[in-house]
Amino acid sequence: MNFDIADSKLADLGRQRIAWADSRMPVMASIRERFAKERPFEGVTFGACMHVTTETANLLRALKAGGANVAICASNPLSTQDDVAASLVRDEGVAVFAIKGEDDETYYRHMDAVIDEGPNLTMDDGCDLVSRLHTGRSDKIADVIAGTEETTTGVIRLRAMEKDGALRYPIVAVNDADTKHMFDNRYGTGQSTLDGVIRATNMLLAGKKVVVAGYGYCGKGVASRARGMGAQVYVTEVDPLRALEAVMDGFRVVPMSEAAREGDLFITVTGDRDVLRREHFEVMKDGAILANSGHFDIEIDLKALAELAHGERRRAVRPFVEEFLLDGERRVMVVAEGRLVNLGAAEGHPADVMDMSFANQALAAEWAMQQASSLQPIVYDVPADIDKEIARLKLDTMGVEIDRLTPEQEAYLSSWTVGT
Ligand code: ADE
Repeated sequence: MNFDIADSKLADLGRQRIAWADSRMPVMASIRERFAKERPFEGVTFGACMHVTTETANLLRALKAGGANVAICASNPLSTQDDVAASLVRDEGVAVFAIKGEDDETYYRHMDAVIDEGPNLTMDDGCDLVSRLHTGRSDKIADVIAGTEETTTGVIRLRAMEKDGALRYPIVAVNDADTKHMFDNRYGTGQSTLDGVIRATNMLLAGKKVVVAGYGYCGKGVASRARGMGAQVYVTEVDPLRALEAVMDGFRVVPMSEAAREGDLFITVTGDRDVLRREHFEVMKDGAILANSGHFDIEIDLKALAELAHGERRRAVRPFVEEFLLDGERRVMVVAEGRLVNLGAAEGHPADVMDMSFANQALAAEWAMQQASSLQPIVYDVPADIDKEIARLKLDTMGVEIDRLTPEQEAYLSSWTVGT
């Protein structure tokens, strides 16, 4: 089996941590057990481009149990957990091409190595693998039946491909399932982003001014968790509806030009570029800390920041924290190179919430396989019954019971004749 990982000797630690995550992913465990009996992926090769974490390892274990061959590369150069990569190779027979901190050249070489394995199904997080298959590596696209996409940024790119008529095989937008974005994006990103900032900086959030750029599900999660830890939270937005929601949720909504002067900690979660840029760096306070939790490292204009620090006035001050000295006096710190801070400086979302995201991945992949012959090369939603079933299973595993409609209530909801 082909692979390229940092250190095979880390496999024992990886195995132990994968087992810990498994114990917190009961929905995935039940899917894995069914897959082991039914073998829906017998002979199928998956090419995955995802964060190589303990949670992803449990998703891949389920695919393997279902009979699949699996190859994976990282969906971010900084998010790989090298111990997990080692265990996946040794214990699960997964072809892993991922090393934490790999440079861009290696990142794409690893992606090509996954494509070389001839995937029939792609599992992407950010659309880099799909994009590569459609551009530089279309030699292998004929083997691909369908794919799944994990994240908001990836779904946006895929919809742009669909609109341009460029998409060549069907892809299920896992991100858009309710049991994914309403939980993973909000509670997962909310907690893990602050986890990353705190692990990297050991800063106290109570009493700090925290600026959250973007009030989508991820921004909502980060803002609410920061407030819960005693921070004064400012929100910046470009969308009037989201801005209004943030105001009514009790946050101060201001333009970034104003927030930039005030903030102690800035967290970008917009999915767009240059959210923090030169004009903002120029007015920031000494000691301001900048972190990004959007998919790509484009939200903080690091080039402009480096220019303001005249190239040489930057240094590592802690693991995953770099200090830039501006005007010879103000220090601005960047966490995790402006890459996804929750995966770069911490462990990503907790297993408890990835349980639902990855249940969607596993069931969406099974659905796409079964339906492949009738699907068009467009972006599909996860079928609503799969989404509901995952919510039901998760509640079951949490020991939470809910009510059922009485026959009278059901009849009432489907009638239009009954009024006052
Ligand atoms: N995305 C966010 N958190 C993650 C995790 N723990 N594993 C895989 N992908 C993730």
